[in-house]
Amino acid sequence: MITTKSIKKIRKSVSKARNNGKIIGFVPTMGALHKGHLSLINKAKKESDYLVVSIFINSLQFSPSEDFKSYPRKIKIDKRILEKKKVDLLFYPQADKMYGPDFSSFVEETRLSKKLCGKSRPGHFKGVTTIVAKLFNIVQPDLSFFGQKDYQQALIIKKMVKDLNFAIKIKTSPTIREKDKLALSSRNLYLNQKERKEAKAIYEALSQAKQMIKNNKRNPKKIIAEMRKIIEKRPRASIDYIEIRNANNLEKIKKIEGKVFIGVAAYFGKTRLIDNIIVNKN
Ligand code: PAF
Repeated sequence: MITTKSIKKIRKSVSKARNNGKIIGFVPTMGALHKGHLSLINKAKKESDYLVVSIFINSLQFSPSEDFKSYPRKIKIDKRILEKKKVDLLFYPQADKMYGPDFSSFVEETRLSKKLCGKSRPGHFKGVTTIVAKLFNIVQPDLSFFGQKDYQQALIIKKMVKDLNFAIKIKTSPTIREKDKLALSSRNLYLNQKERKEAKAIYEALSQAKQMIKNNKRNPKKIIAEMRKIIEKRPRASIDYIEIRNANNLEKIKKIEGKVFIGVAAYFGKTRLIDNIIVNKN
């Protein structure tokens, strides 16, 4: 595996691979790699011939009150994992090379980004789309891979790619879960034992919603009320949002029908976790 901080080197290696007829796959990450990332890497390896992974903790997507400084940094372990996975190239840029002191250009999707997590974390998705656009311009992949746990992020990136004509196909991969069904996330590392135990309430609430829909309950408000009860039973939990939306555009819906997004964002202690499921009801 080549590890580089150099934009020049990455462009040279990728264009050489492309000239040799290889399909370039790309998995952007913020490191602290877990099985969720590995499933993206496995999928990317299957679908491409030359795989680039980036590790960059993007300050721009954290607000001043968020966990940028304490975000887990595990570069040595991450490198070993990626080497074992036979990733071709690790791009590990320096912050000052990505955002120089005179940096003043941003990429912003303005519709989907205002909803759900965008409401609770203003500026977050502008930070995500700006860094992902930069990484796309640097790596110039054919395919790029994102997890379904960050469903809204993946939808926004697909929209950015469409609106701005990036010649990149966005692929998504199912959420990977612990035994008790908690979605894998680098932020799970922050949970103490009691918070960790309570956090499984998120998936319990999502499963309750799925079951209610299966039983022909069609009223989102009633389903959300039942989901709330499950999470509120946990003393260390506080709900940011529970929403049931149209899965294609994240608009509000009055009745469950078609492809529906059911999403939860909740704090356990100080740690904000998100999760979702997609349900099809005809
Ligand atoms: O999902 C993430 O880890 C980040 O938001 C991403 C896509 C790597 C951009 O910093």
